[in-house]
Amino acid sequence: MALYSDKVMDHFLKPRNLGTIADADGIGEVGNAKCGDIMKMYLKIDDDIITDVKFETFGCASAIASSSMATELIKGQRVEDAMQLTNKAVAEALDGLPAYKMHCSVLAEEAIQAALEDYKSKQEQA
Ligand code: FES
Repeated sequence: MALYSDKVMDHFLKPRNLGTIADADGIGEVGNAKCGDIMKMYLKIDDDIITDVKFETFGCASAIASSSMATELIKGQRVEDAMQLTNKAVAEALDGLPAYKMHCSVLAEEAIQAALEDYKSKQEQA
């Protein structure tokens, strides 16, 4: 059996929503100290809905595929719903990741939560 699913390979080779958002409403950056990979998420939020999301990932194939899939999963969602996104849901949407690569999907969950927290704290300050 192949190490990676077709979906992982597809999102790794053709990442969706790659890039940055200049006037993002929320930005989250997280890293994994062990492997050194870094993920950054940018969110555009209008009326509590995530209207745009972009990512930059300096990391392995699973991290890139996880970021790409996570952006697709939360685009169009309400902030509170996106908060519930788990790394397990990201991995399932990719038709699975090898067990030792599950931590890569955790980065996606954490980066989105960090970006949403950033958005919320900016709302409170406004
Ligand atoms: Fe660390 Fe994939 S090996 S995020």
